[in-house]
Amino acid sequence: GGPVEVDIGRLAPGELMVIEWRRKPVWILRRTQEELDNLAKVSADALRDPESTQSEQPTYATNAQRSFKPEYLVLLGVCTHLGCSPQLRPQVGDLDADWQGGFLCPCHGGRYDLAGRVYKGVPPPLNLPVPPHKYLTDTRLVIG
Ligand code: FES
Repeated sequence: GGPVEVDIGRLAPGELMVIEWRRKPVWILRRTQEELDNLAKVSADALRDPESTQSEQPTYATNAQRSFKPEYLVLLGVCTHLGCSPQLRPQVGDLDADWQGGFLCPCHGGRYDLAGRVYKGVPPPLNLPVPPHKYLTDTRLVIG
């Protein structure tokens, strides 16, 4: 498959959209301001690769939010451990005191924050990759 065009005009804050690109799920999450604020509070010590130096992302997503636009996170929804599909768990739960919410992998407990950065102490070796993407307009996004 080639690039895939997506209309994100109806994506509400906090909502996750899943599309298929190259036979893999790609997530588009519209993060709320609160989620972005919480992301800034995640301790770098808790993360395996806080600066995303080893993980895959385009240069325009090499920033604190790992995205072209802070609000919209675009990620490959495939766990970097053994390829399961992590689930969105944006709320602080009773999983762990350090957990600020993010994505949880059901297979072996891999935990990622809302920028797809993996926590230490769980099996996944790398942050979730950010696929190449660009905006045609404010509401039209191209993946690939
Ligand atoms: Fe996700 Fe193992 S496949 S933690």
